[in-house]
Amino acid sequence: MPETPPRHIAIIMDGNGRWAKLRGLPRTAGHAAGAETFRTIANYCRTLGVEYLTVYAFSTENWKRSTEEIGGIMKLLAKYLREAMADMEKNHVRFRFWGDLSRLSPELQKLCMDAQNRSASFDDVQVNFCLNYGGRDEIVRAARDLATRAKAGTLDPDEITEDLFAQSLYSAGVPDPELVIRPSGEKRLSNFLPWQTVYSEFVYMNVLWPDFTPTDLDKAIAEYHRRSRRFGGV
Ligand code: IPE
Ligand code: IPE
Ligand code: MG
Repeated sequence: MPETPPRHIAIIMDGNGRWAKLRGLPRTAGHAAGAETFRTIANYCRTLGVEYLTVYAFSTENWKRSTEEIGGIMKLLAKYLREAMADMEKNHVRFRFWGDLSRLSPELQKLCMDAQNRSASFDDVQVNFCLNYGGRDEIVRAARDLATRAKAGTLDPDEITEDLFAQSLYSAGVPDPELVIRPSGEKRLSNFLPWQTVYSEFVYMNVLWPDFTPTDLDKAIAEYHRRSRRFGGV
């Protein structure tokens, strides 16, 4: 029996390329398999009663990849979102997008907006889909937003607190993730949620994302429960 899950789980969906390489397949095949894993894990989180699931799908640094791979990922995202609409309605999943969508194709931007608008009132689980997301970019945008308001005279710089700053982030209103999971064996954040994870528990796993199963999620949650969280206290 799985233990009570944290309210908010964040996952760096990594290892698609290596999964494909091991099978002699193009990297895009790994991304397609990874999209299926996301479907399974998002659904499993919903049945566990997780309130927020934040997933890293494409970083501000991933534009360094070949146009072929990027094109493949974008095509898969569009396909996934079209199919996800029906699932979302059936399972009451609320979709949010964190990241700068303006660099995506108009078609993909529209699919994201439709998914976000059509699912706004659903409340079984909220999926925060990080797309063209960079943690530093998110912080810079918040700083720019506050500076603009200060310049316009509608914000006194002395009023800027951690709470006010957080209201200008994509994650406004969402509690910080208690647990961050990174499969694929890499042990780094890669620009994922630097503000929100200062007190998160990190679980790194030696499984490639397309192979990640609900049992792996159970294991990560069990590991989380073995940790002693002190938040600077004793
Ligand atoms: C994660 O898998 C998906 C994206 C970053 C888009 P990778 O494509 O990074 O897979 P590896 O790390 O090369 O195996
Ligand atoms: C992080 O993985 C981004 C996503 C999973 C979307 P990367 O594969 O891009 O990270 P690095 O390059 O190994 O740090
Ligand atoms: Mg990777």
